[in-house]
Amino acid sequence: MFKVGIIGVGNMGEAILKGLIEKAGINGPEIVITDINQDRVKDIIEKYNVAGTDIRKVVNLSEIIFLAVKPKDIESALEPVKDLFKENQILISVLAGIKIEKIKKFTEKPLIIRIMPNTPALIGEGVIGVSFEKNTEKKDFILSLLKTLGEVYEVKEELLDVITGLSGSGPAYVFNFIDALAQGGVKMGLSYDMALKIATQTVLGSAKLLKESGQHPVVLRDMVTSPAGTTIYGLHELEKKNFKDAVMSAVEAATKRSKELS
Ligand SMILES: NC(=O)c1ccc[n+]([C@@H]2O[C@H](COP(=O)([O-])OP(=O)(O)OC[C@H]3O[C@@H](n4cnc5c(N)ncnc54)[C@H](OP(=O)(O)O)[C@@H]3O)[C@@H](O)[C@H]2O)c1
Repeated sequence: MFKVGIIGVGNMGEAILKGLIEKAGINGPEIVITDINQDRVKDIIEKYNVAGTDIRKVVNLSEIIFLAVKPKDIESALEPVKDLFKENQILISVLAGIKIEKIKKFTEKPLIIRIMPNTPALIGEGVIGVSFEKNTEKKDFILSLLKTLGEVYEVKEELLDVITGLSGSGPAYVFNFIDALAQGGVKMGLSYDMALKIATQTVLGSAKLLKESGQHPVVLRDMVTSPAGTTIYGLHELEKKNFKDAVMSAVEAATKRSKELS
């Protein structure tokens, strides 16, 4: 038996694999992978010293199985192996918008867990929403595996749509904000290269200060905002253009879209 099997070793499948080996202390030979892209399988085997085989053996031989194909490929992945799952297995789905109820239509046997990571999980700095079909004695172990990808938040399944709208889509909002900050710097005379580095470090440093100080964001904002100083003039412009309204609406719209898609 293998401790972990991974079906689909694209971006997210590889991030999970990397976390398991580098941070969860699982050895390469305890993991088995499969993917329809054979070049990808070859690369991953060479890079991480894991086992690689066909999907039937992965399902047959793994205690915990991560399903990390695109949502559109769920049927092609699970239909041919649905009879192979066993009662004591755990199937962890990374698929955005595919409900536990739908996964159960392929197989009733394993315990199903849904996770919603975001792209910073690729470097172990993600946010991972997780929802368990029901309780399991292996819960702490599963949570410790997921923590190798970043911070883990357990929520009811219906709230995974909010996690999608907030942290799933969130990196795109943040990247747009960083790009806009940098372009502001360019408008005022800096090169884009330098402005982008400064904007990136400003966001990174502010997020770290917020996290490490434990202060409320408004307290930290007020620390930079002296009476009649530069920052209040900048903040006023953001308020005039409904900055907060735009960001809150983005989370709301992405959450609603996630619900529609699922
Ligand atoms: N990337 C993210 O930031 C992110 C965030 C949250 C959730 N997710 C979820 O993670 C899942 C994977 O996303 P990804 O970005 O890692 O996708 P990806 O890079 O395209 O990886 C999916 C891999 O699965 C392979 N595959 C397709 N059908 C298969 C099958 N029947 N059996 C075995 N392997 C199969 C694909 O091969 P081909 O390329 O040849 O089709 C590809 O190598 C998605 O469901 C997505 O919703 C991703």
